[in-house]
Amino acid sequence: MPTYRLLLLPGDGIGVETIAEVERVIAFFNKTAKGAKFETETDLVGGAAFDKHGVALTDEAMAKAQGADAVIFGAVGGPKWDQVPYAVRPEAGLLALRKHLGLFANLRPAICYPALADASSLKRELVEGLDIMIVRELTGGVYFGEPKEIVVLEDGQKRAVDTQVYTTHEIERIARVAFDLARKRSNKVHSAEKRNVMRTGVLWNEVVTATHKAYAPDVKLEHILADNCAMQLVRNPKQFDVIVTDNLFGDVLSDEAAMTTGSLGMLPSASLGAADPKTGKRKALYEPVHGSAPDIAGKGLANPIATIASFGMALRYSFAMGKEADLVEKAIAKTLDQGLRTADIMQPGMRQVGTSEMGSAILKELGKLAG
Ligand code: IPM
Ligand code: MG
Repeated sequence: MPTYRLLLLPGDGIGVETIAEVERVIAFFNKTAKGAKFETETDLVGGAAFDKHGVALTDEAMAKAQGADAVIFGAVGGPKWDQVPYAVRPEAGLLALRKHLGLFANLRPAICYPALADASSLKRELVEGLDIMIVRELTGGVYFGEPKEIVVLEDGQKRAVDTQVYTTHEIERIARVAFDLARKRSNKVHSAEKRNVMRTGVLWNEVVTATHKAYAPDVKLEHILADNCAMQLVRNPKQFDVIVTDNLFGDVLSDEAAMTTGSLGMLPSASLGAADPKTGKRKALYEPVHGSAPDIAGKGLANPIATIASFGMALRYSFAMGKEADLVEKAIAKTLDQGLRTADIMQPGMRQVGTSEMGSAILKELGKLAG
């Protein structure tokens, strides 16, 4: 039986509390799953790492991430670190992990759990049954393009530059990920860019079109301008299946899509690298889409579902444990069906519970399902 190594990086704020619930889920699978065992290590990232080491991620922690079969990440950031130097701000830890592990493909499902359709800011009929997958390019674009600087001009004014840059290779490999995923879903991809304004948009459009023709003519492809995509997501989100887009548009569109489901506290994500040509293994990091929520941190109020569901994605995408991943998803859905809600998704007539009570309820359902 294989033993997989997980690096847990709880980070800041509610990340600490939600990763604690994931540890219980991992322990559950170590007791019950027959296919594999998990060994865990834990380290600091973000503000927590800065407070102790003066950096957002130490070299040792990065080495552990390189050696792990998957990284399970909580969240980083908070007002406490607003004034720290840019290079060591909490977010730098996450960005370094993405870049150094080569995690170019960010999968962000936006699913409307039936039990939560009324928690959406959109009408129930617009979001009920919604199931979108946003495929965000994660290691290129304006997040990492050089130059990236603020310079002082001769007249004392300042000039800030970020650089949006993409190569054929970067666009092609993310497009392939989107087409592969679409084939397992509703077979439809929207590619979002701004070809009407940006040269990177022109190339993006060109390369996605060519990749489609050569690699996935069986998949339905539509091109959409990113601003129109943002609008269509609130007008009629169910028209989408897979949306593939660059790093910055993906950041924005995935928050928007997540919120329309009424389930921001529920949504997981996977960040994957290229498959190793020898072993077939991919570097991978799994994290909730929500952030560190400093306002409720440490109070036992956080919703652990997105982080638990992120571990579920790890089971599916890193360890080929699809059955176990299904169990996690079912256990979450059943717990919601019973009317249990954390504060962020609380509705009239439901029972409000805290972080660990929600974790316990999910574990109980897991136990029954695995029975
Ligand atoms: C996300 C976050 C990050 C990003 C931040 C924390 C750097 O917003 O994962 O969407 O901008 O990518
Ligand atoms: Mg974001």
